[in-house]
Amino acid sequence: MSEPLENLWAAVVNGEERKLQIAQSTRLVDVLRTHLNLTGTKVSCEVGRCGACMVLMDGEPVNSCLVMAYQCVGSEITTIEGLHGEKEDELHPIQQAFVEEGGFQCGYCTPGMVISTKALLDRYPQPSQEQIETGLCGNLCRCTGYGGIIRAVRTAGENCVSSFTLITGEKKVNDL
Ligand code: FES
Ligand code: FES
Repeated sequence: MSEPLENLWAAVVNGEERKLQIAQSTRLVDVLRTHLNLTGTKVSCEVGRCGACMVLMDGEPVNSCLVMAYQCVGSEITTIEGLHGEKEDELHPIQQAFVEEGGFQCGYCTPGMVISTKALLDRYPQPSQEQIETGLCGNLCRCTGYGGIIRAVRTAGENCVSSFTLITGEKKVNDL
């Protein structure tokens, strides 16, 4: 069988314009992990059930195992590597809250949980229990449980409001 033709792919990934020559059948998760070496995004179920591969596409959380590369040409993609505090070597407030509250669990679920939390708090800086459960419903943990994760989401939301902390990267909460 002949190799699929290669296409030019271009998008902004973690704030940087990236261009690649890739096969038409390439998925976004493969662009990130294989072509761009952004291995913080994990692959587990590969069918959209676990959320390990969650990234932001134009600010919306998507399962990168289900998105074809051609579907995100020209988009802005944010992976776990793209989250940081006000300085690049500082933890993002969400990551800090995950550390403080015991929400950092295994390496498979945690990046996706943090990305989904970012999407949730961008929309609802102080989410209700129901909004947290809905915001994280696409992220599965089959082993440790959700107690620490839910505490971390609440703490990140509180920090976001009370400490004038950058959550979105562009907008400060006081500007909302
Ligand atoms: S690896 Fe994409 S949802 Fe599980
Ligand atoms: S899947 Fe990561 S701790 Fe359960």
